[in-house]
Amino acid sequence: MTNRDSRLSNLLHETRQFSPSESFRENANVRDESIYESARQDPEGYWSEQAQNLSWFAPYENVLKWQSPHAEWFSGGKLNAAYNCVDRHRQGPRKNKAAIIWEGEPGDSRVYTYDMLGREVDRAAHMLQDLGVRRGDRVTIYLPMIPELPISLLACAKIGAIHSVVFGGFSSKALRQRIVDADAKVLITADAGWRRGALIALKANADEAVVDTPTETVVVVRRVGAQAGVSMQAGRDVYWHELLVKTPGAPFPAAEMDAEDILFLLYTSGTTGNPKGIVHTTGGYLTVANTSMRTVFDMKDDDIFFCTADIGWVTGHTYIVYGPLSAGATVVMYEGSPDFPGRDRFWDMVEKYGVTILYTAPTSIRTFMKWGAQYPQMHDLRTLRLLGTVGEPINPEAWMWYHEHIGHGRCPIVDTWWQTETGAAIIAPLPGLTVAKPGSATRPVPGIDADVVDEHGQSVAPGHGGYLVIRKPWPSMLRTIWGDDERFRRTYFGQFEGMYVAGDGAHKDADGYVWILGRIDDVINVSGHRIGTMEVESALVSHRAVAEAAVIGRSHDIKGQAITAFVTVKEGIETGDALIAELKQHVTDSIGAMARPEEIIFTAELPKTRSAKIMRRLLRDIAEGRVLGDTTTLADPSVVEALKTQYKESE
Ligand code: WTA
Repeated sequence: MTNRDSRLSNLLHETRQFSPSESFRENANVRDESIYESARQDPEGYWSEQAQNLSWFAPYENVLKWQSPHAEWFSGGKLNAAYNCVDRHRQGPRKNKAAIIWEGEPGDSRVYTYDMLGREVDRAAHMLQDLGVRRGDRVTIYLPMIPELPISLLACAKIGAIHSVVFGGFSSKALRQRIVDADAKVLITADAGWRRGALIALKANADEAVVDTPTETVVVVRRVGAQAGVSMQAGRDVYWHELLVKTPGAPFPAAEMDAEDILFLLYTSGTTGNPKGIVHTTGGYLTVANTSMRTVFDMKDDDIFFCTADIGWVTGHTYIVYGPLSAGATVVMYEGSPDFPGRDRFWDMVEKYGVTILYTAPTSIRTFMKWGAQYPQMHDLRTLRLLGTVGEPINPEAWMWYHEHIGHGRCPIVDTWWQTETGAAIIAPLPGLTVAKPGSATRPVPGIDADVVDEHGQSVAPGHGGYLVIRKPWPSMLRTIWGDDERFRRTYFGQFEGMYVAGDGAHKDADGYVWILGRIDDVINVSGHRIGTMEVESALVSHRAVAEAAVIGRSHDIKGQAITAFVTVKEGIETGDALIAELKQHVTDSIGAMARPEEIIFTAELPKTRSAKIMRRLLRDIAEGRVLGDTTTLADPSVVEALKTQYKESE
């Protein structure tokens, strides 16, 4: 059995169902089931109606122009994402409402009202403009989770520049690759960031990354101060606060962008080659992000919304910045680790700020389970009314723990399936309507035509599994891969004509609910982070000792999947613990700590088919200690036996 098979057999035995309470249902934003049917009959009409919740400078001419695989939504319409997220709220009763409640890991905190946030965004926009940033230019952002991060995104949006955020956990090499691919002239970083009380040397990484790249200016936010010990290169590096004092206090006029102008790039791992720069445009992305706040997250004006993701990933883009702020919400943003200084940090924040909606990842929930219920019990969590999860399939045990120990049986759980490519949550419950089943993301949201199909693209019957696809274009779909439209076509639309293939396997149950089984390509999901096996393999073979490497994801209790690397070394190289440590560090330096293999197994040979393909399924079976399936296609079956012995020894 593979990972996916074992998940499936567990899920098929899952029969528990959870309906929202009467009081939740009565107060929910969406109470009428007919929304599904009306959106199904007229998806363009549905999305056009949703788009009216945004502020447009000029109306659009067409709702959708679709020439597979290229979609244009609301083209001709003019709007600005930062205006929608900040300025329009400054003009009404939300002017002095908290937009961002930020807490730093050491315990410092800042609150920005919409009005204050607006002034900061305008000053940052002036600053970027003074540095020569213009509409359409790319700006790379490599920051810790501090307020300057959302402010930078919004300042770019205000100018009409394209932001490309690189998660602070990425190495200098990974950062460099993304700067070069995006051809970014400005990099915004910080002296350092805090994580578990230690410093993350962002500026030092940035220094290595920008050499011989198009980046001419590095703006440095002073987060830590003298302790960070950074050196500033004259003519290239400038401090954020020194530039800001020079900017005029005058409002920055929002650029009137076309709905189809690019809002941002966000790099994500694929099966092969370099990370893909996923392209999102302005009007469609913002429409679905904004809609999902009302429908999936049931957002009301007095909610306090806490999404625990980092803005370095799409979840933070959509559910810390563009979704909640466009909806005028109050968001809680936290800089650091959930166990610093204690394992009750999140629960302390929920109590302190009166969080009403909490959105986190299954890997975090499993970690909290392991730590024990005594930590949430230390705090009053009665303000919570809705819980969400994202990033990987949630196992029913973790769902139940979340339901009981965090939600106290009161709060509906929205298990939201989506991807960097989909822009926002698109398979998810509507919490006032949907009967939840632990482990299922339930049904596509209104206006989304997702399905599970067989290898011919035919819809599978209930009770069967196959490929997760989206049949019709939706407003927040990626438009292309930056600089590689051919790869966009091939990757997402190459398998079935006109249908988006998500890369996930899924099962459809008798009620039409979707159960995501995980990636079916060579992408590993470690703690909700997508890592391409190829990227880790290339990092390993770039080490002088390595001849060949094969990387697989094996199931892991907390992380969902963990990386196991099988490595053959060059002639005369001595294997042992020292080399293992060196190789793990080498991967960390090449990509980042999240790609560091959990274990490395040296082997004289890798199992290959007669046509010289590495048999990954077999490697997974070995790593997970399962009985081996058919090995008759293997060129040299003795390799497997040797590997099995080797793996046992390394345990
Ligand atoms: C997985 C994160 C099951 C899936 C927003 C997808 C999920 C990949 C869920 C995208 C979920 C995300 N249930 N699997 N609720 N949410 N995934 O691009 O494999 O970082 O393809 O976007 O995460 O990861 P990405």
